[in-house]
Amino acid sequence: MKASFNSSKEKLIEAATSAMGRAWCPYSKFAVGAAILMSDGEIITGCNVENSSFGLTNCAERTAVFSAISRGYGRGDFIGIVVRAGGNRASSPCGACRQVLSEFFDPEAPVLAVCDKDHQMTWTVKELLPDGFRL
Ligand code: THU
Repeated sequence: MKASFNSSKEKLIEAATSAMGRAWCPYSKFAVGAAILMSDGEIITGCNVENSSFGLTNCAERTAVFSAISRGYGRGDFIGIVVRAGGNRASSPCGACRQVLSEFFDPEAPVLAVCDKDHQMTWTVKELLPDGFRL
């Protein structure tokens, strides 16, 4: 049976929060963590990794997706993602991450953004990027 996003939500938020603590963000000081629920129940995390050459920065969401792919997962294995940042307002995935999510996640897959406070936002991947680029 495929893992369920709703019943794994608390674990995903915990995992994304731990990942946020591993962020390398000495330039922006804005730490982000991401946790992806895979169809086999595994949780794969990522954090943002900045660089003194700013354009090379990798966001938390993409770190998590690339980590999952490098472990052998593929399209159809990605159930949903939690993005955790600090502050009072949940922050939504950047455009580059939206394109990368749409490469691997189902269009209806959930994306949940959480922060230090109660404020949360949820979307489907398709809501974040309608008509994403496809070759
Ligand atoms: N960042 C993410 O990790 N995910 C996003 O979706 C938006 C931005 C990171 C990149 C950079 O390290 C910091 O947040 C500030 O832009």
